[in-house]
Amino acid sequence: MAFNPKDYYFKKAKTENYAARSIFKLQEIDERFKILKPGYQVLDLGAAPGSWSQYASEKVGKAGKILGIDLQPIQLTISNASFVCADLRDLNLEETIETHGIRLPVDVVLSDMAPKTTGIRITDQTRSVELCELALATAEKFLKQRGTFVCKLFHSEEFEGFRNGLRSRFGRVEILRPKSTRKESKEIFFIATLFQAKTQGARKEGLTS
Ligand SMILES: C[S@@+](CC[C@H](N)C(=O)[O-])C[C@H]1O[C@@H](n2cnc3c(N)ncnc32)[C@H](O)[C@@H]1O
Repeated sequence: MAFNPKDYYFKKAKTENYAARSIFKLQEIDERFKILKPGYQVLDLGAAPGSWSQYASEKVGKAGKILGIDLQPIQLTISNASFVCADLRDLNLEETIETHGIRLPVDVVLSDMAPKTTGIRITDQTRSVELCELALATAEKFLKQRGTFVCKLFHSEEFEGFRNGLRSRFGRVEILRPKSTRKESKEIFFIATLFQAKTQGARKEGLTS
């Protein structure tokens, strides 16, 4: 079947007032792995236009907080979420987290970051892996012991290497291709739980470097 930008999930997102059809990917991940709970502090990397933050905001409730970061501005007002328009590669995230009142270490790091696709497979895959590495480095710095990391990767030869990297840092690593992922998409999600944080001294060093 031909690519249909306004498919079932697009329409469902519109009807339910979510900013994007991506919401249903996070919803499926959360329903399967129960990653979001009341009171949680969450980093949402690659958050625009904001549907993951909308969903996470409902799940963490008033006592929780979301910080969403994206190259694109996010036009939503959500009482327990803050948004920062920036390139994660250039951002002083520690300072930003403090400014927006997020409690450290955070409970969950989400990354739905994706490169602007060029259509050149190898270029898109390489950029996707780079964003995954960036997301993982962010999780290592700010995630609590036994915390959860969710990350999107465009499937490539790097898949195994990245999965092994996750396995060395998390107690459990699952993969999921959500039902709402478009048929032609190469995306796959890692759900890594039970983070093994480094010793506090080492993390402190990491936070100040
Ligand atoms: C698929 S969209 C995210 C959709 C979002 N999860 C939602 O539910 O609305 C991927 C996003 O990653 C962002 N992105 C890519 N590289 C980034 C970077 N270096 N820093 C911050 N955001 C980035 C893009 O701007 C894009 O908005």
